[in-house]
Amino acid sequence: MSLKEQLIHTLHKQEGHAENKISVVGVGAVGMACAISILMKDLADELALVDVVEDKLRGEMLDLQHGSLFLKTPKIVSGKDYSVTAHSKLVIVTAGARQQEGESRLNLVQRNVNIFKFIIPNVVKYSPDCKLLIVSNPVDILTYVAWKISGFPKHRVIGSGCNLDSARFRHLMGERLGIHPLSCHGWIVGEHGDSSVPVWSGVNVAGVSLKTLHPDLGTDADKEHWKEVHKQVVDSAYEVIKLKGYTSWAIGLSVGDLAESIMKNLRRVHPISTIVKGLHGIKDDVFLSVPCVLGSNGITDVVKMILKPEEEDKLRKSADTLWAIQKELQF
Ligand SMILES: NC(=O)c1ccc[n+]([C@@H]2O[C@H](COP(=O)([O-])OP(=O)(O)OC[C@H]3O[C@@H](n4cnc5c(N)ncnc54)[C@H](O)[C@@H]3O)[C@@H](O)[C@H]2O)c1
Repeated sequence: MSLKEQLIHTLHKQEGHAENKISVVGVGAVGMACAISILMKDLADELALVDVVEDKLRGEMLDLQHGSLFLKTPKIVSGKDYSVTAHSKLVIVTAGARQQEGESRLNLVQRNVNIFKFIIPNVVKYSPDCKLLIVSNPVDILTYVAWKISGFPKHRVIGSGCNLDSARFRHLMGERLGIHPLSCHGWIVGEHGDSSVPVWSGVNVAGVSLKTLHPDLGTDADKEHWKEVHKQVVDSAYEVIKLKGYTSWAIGLSVGDLAESIMKNLRRVHPISTIVKGLHGIKDDVFLSVPCVLGSNGITDVVKMILKPEEEDKLRKSADTLWAIQKELQF
């Protein structure tokens, strides 16, 4: 008898697959920040990692496994083959080329579409019922690409979108006011990145509208220059990339927050990317961030924001820009 047989008497052989599995495709800076965030929040009973660079992939898996004593995710696996992702509830895609210093997110697009043509069919093959959460940039276009390639219903294809932009805004607002970001409410919607739209009319603390107190909020006439806060949000990825080469911790934490809403069916409202055709006068199949109700079925509902005509114009302009790029893409 082996030591294990001497030690253990089995009553029931454990079979079947994980109940709450999450997979992360791409183990770069962003993928690993998402992975550690998910692990620290105890969201999964199995975590699978996939990448094309096998040594790095195995190294990252081992490094996480060595932390198992401090975690409550009993199985961490990895592989180049997508069979390791089978039966995932949620698949997070962070794979792809990243922005170079000064490169716009839109420049990345066709490079990452080609990568998605391989990734998405493989994910679908092994987890046909999963929710897909796209993080790779340009995130709004790649969420559309993932939706097209996967053939999934629209509620199960989600882009991380302006979740990070809004978090950055609330952090900066909190710094100005000396209040925790959780109590500083403000929504950045539209395209993730350069043309995102701050909804100044909704900015509030405890339901007290900052625009009512200070009507110049967000305008060029504002002596307190609150518009700068949005500019800082837009510039922040470029600034961090310039300083440390990439962004990782904030996006990882924000993806962990989205994963929590999905895995625990919280139905919280997040500014994330979904198909906006039919909203705010948008007529094409584009994905932009709006406040979305997120739970175990993915995005089930959208909160219809009351926007100013100029804010709606900006959204429609983003939609036109995205559509002009999308219709040229080679699938
Ligand atoms: N949505 C957001 O708010 C947000 C924020 C930050 C970064 N990003 C984006 O996330 C992506 C990843 O950024 P990063 O800094 O981790 O980049 P990175 O270069 O560190 O990692 C990318 C990883 O993808 C892997 N990869 C490439 N092709 C692959 C394929 N076919 N299958 C599986 N894996 C593949 C690479 O080997 C690498 O490990 C970028 O597109 C970046 O722009 C998005």
